[in-house]
Amino acid sequence: MGRAPVRIGMVGLGRMGKRHADNLARRVDGAELVAGCSPIDDETAWAREVLGVGASYRELAELLRHPGLDAVVLATPAIVHVDQIVSALEAGKHVFCEKPLALDLADCLRVEEAAARHPDKIVMVGFVRRFDPSYRDAYRHIEAGGIGRPFLVRSQTGDQLDPSGFFVRFAPTSGGIFLDCSIHDIDLARWFLGNPRPRRVFATGVVAVHHDLTAVGDVDNGVAVVEFAEGRLACLYASRTLAHGHDTHTEIIGTAGSLMVGQNPRRNRVEIADAHGVRNLCVADFYERFKEAFLLEIQEFVDCVRAGTPPPLTLRDATEATRIGLALAEGQRSGRVVELAELGG
Ligand SMILES: NC(=O)c1ccc[n+]([C@@H]2O[C@H](COP(=O)([O-])OP(=O)(O)OC[C@H]3O[C@@H](n4cnc5c(N)ncnc54)[C@H](O)[C@@H]3O)[C@@H](O)[C@H]2O)c1
Repeated sequence: MGRAPVRIGMVGLGRMGKRHADNLARRVDGAELVAGCSPIDDETAWAREVLGVGASYRELAELLRHPGLDAVVLATPAIVHVDQIVSALEAGKHVFCEKPLALDLADCLRVEEAAARHPDKIVMVGFVRRFDPSYRDAYRHIEAGGIGRPFLVRSQTGDQLDPSGFFVRFAPTSGGIFLDCSIHDIDLARWFLGNPRPRRVFATGVVAVHHDLTAVGDVDNGVAVVEFAEGRLACLYASRTLAHGHDTHTEIIGTAGSLMVGQNPRRNRVEIADAHGVRNLCVADFYERFKEAFLLEIQEFVDCVRAGTPPPLTLRDATEATRIGLALAEGQRSGRVVELAELGG
């Protein structure tokens, strides 16, 4: 492109932040990872020692004063996203933020307002599946009229059972299974169905294995129906307890056909025929499944910053997905159908 690289600070160097940092330092064209930021010294030391990142900060406010910084990538807990995005925008930085945008609607709107005050800054929320080559192919096929008018999306996010219950520690700050996991399926449903207006939702769930979740009102298996305007529907399933591996797949049904993406979460093309029958191994976790998409996603962010073009998904997309996710969480807790009004603005 012939432009200067985008100088980026990575905020949060945990499970997701390390992977973004690794991509930014080694694989993203036009990016320079200039600093790492985490309150945990071991994590910033990892960025320095493994990736050769020059500067380390414990707090975002310090990172934002780093000379020449252009952008931040936030992979921090959801409860701090909004304050961090607003601070970064006010400091004149472009922002990539992991999903979910926020844990309440007023906060989403606060980010939209801050972004409107800084129209020259890119703000992009990480709905990684939109960058997965198979989901992209499906989108193009639908756009070309390949399945007629799409009216129903059935989509699931399923994590393999982790008997240690590692994620249970994060449940109080993640927003629960619908905001943490189903938000991806919600975003896909909106994308494939042409951004229809959500009208009402029903959600329920069970605690099948991780009984500690009951104390925070969360479940480890959840199902939901989202009814949109103009006769469009989404049926969602999220699980933290699958036996066979990470199993994320989606079916899009239209008036002239349907598409299935990722129906068999196979690790590779090997089929094993033995005393158990004919089978294949599965991807182990979300990163194995979406590794390529994570790279394409962050490359897109960097390209948008360099070219000054808006990202392919808007903040309103992130607000709407969060709003539907919040309605599902409320529905699951209350046992009631939750109606959604039209969102102004
Ligand atoms: N797109 C996906 O599929 C996907 C997958 C996993 C996680 N995520 C998202 O990524 C985000 C992080 O999740 P994770 O699993 O990496 O969590 P994590 O707990 O492993 O990492 C969080 C990091 O943030 C740091 N941190 C906490 N408070 C901070 C602060 N105030 N300032 C700077 N750093 C701070 C922690 O020290 C840690 O480095 C969440 O929003 C999560 O939903 C997205």
